[in-house]
Amino acid sequence: MILALETSCDDTCAAVITARGEIRANVISSQGVHDRYGGVVPEIASRHHLELVGAVVADALARAGVSLPELDAIAVTQGPGLVGALLVGVASAKALAAAHRLPLVPVDHLHGHVAANFLDPHPFEPPFLCLIASGGHTLLARVEGYGPEWEVLGTTLDDAAGEAFDKGARLLGLGYPGGPALERLAREGDPAAFSFPTGARVAGLDFSFAGLKTALLYKVRELGEEEVARRRADLAAAYQHAIVEALALRVEAALAQTGLRRLALGGGVAANGPLRARVRGLADELEVPPLALCTDNAAMIASAARYLPALAFPDYLSLDAYASGERGL
Ligand code: KG4
Ligand code: ZN
Repeated sequence: MILALETSCDDTCAAVITARGEIRANVISSQGVHDRYGGVVPEIASRHHLELVGAVVADALARAGVSLPELDAIAVTQGPGLVGALLVGVASAKALAAAHRLPLVPVDHLHGHVAANFLDPHPFEPPFLCLIASGGHTLLARVEGYGPEWEVLGTTLDDAAGEAFDKGARLLGLGYPGGPALERLAREGDPAAFSFPTGARVAGLDFSFAGLKTALLYKVRELGEEEVARRRADLAAAYQHAIVEALALRVEAALAQTGLRRLALGGGVAANGPLRARVRGLADELEVPPLALCTDNAAMIASAARYLPALAFPDYLSLDAYASGERGL
């Protein structure tokens, strides 16, 4: 059995899974305190992780009905993410592992998102194309095996897809996180009412959402307050359409380029109905793990750890977190 910790952003997560991918516990404590700032405040996130991590780990172990000495290994997200937040998880995992002389497995957060697909009750076997779109990352990956050898085909050059939803929602006066609110508002609007850029000019399979956000800002200024209030649903629908198209066009190109016929979605944006509908027809098979496994969670980190080498005590005591870069993202 593997215990995993994930603290790369604002969710304090701990999970216990079996070697064959059965989830025994998947505890997620969302901090909630960041909403009033319209985004995650890194220092506040770190401090909350410190307060929550002990209780979240204890809760996961209790729900799984295991004690620390019974574990085979402890896994932890090493990066990328907010470095102060990551350090809380890394230091906690090291301390727990060292106290019981357990091996430690450092995991790349994005490998975790990919490995969410390998869990019960619907393990999705490689090869497949994986689109991960969240508030922190946007990634197209060719997944040929279970380990970390998956290939990055495209990533965002600026904002992440979820960030584009959040920033657009903010411009339209919606709360944070903006994705679900914007999707709801867009249901009453016409996606063809306005034309927003889909980043089609970006070469290859990379994404760019900064221009889209600016286009909405200019449109809002041009229309003026009254007109924006009257056409908010149309603006939301057209803006959402542009994000969905940006993602779907590259999925389509990546499927053609790789010859892959199966597609998996991950990240919080995978909850978006129009995105799911738009990509459904593109591949022979579409896998969208349950939402609790799409958004940040520790079960996916434990899942990835099954396919990675474990570090023995005391080799991991000098292990450090990384904010970005390990996989060239
Ligand atoms: O994976 P996630 O929970 O967290 C991190 O980014 O770490 O993703 C959250 C992101 C937010 O940007 C949120 O606005 C977006 O996913 N999101 C959505 C929807 N639900 C969540 N975006 C579009 N449509 C949704 N229904
Ligand atoms: Zn994530």
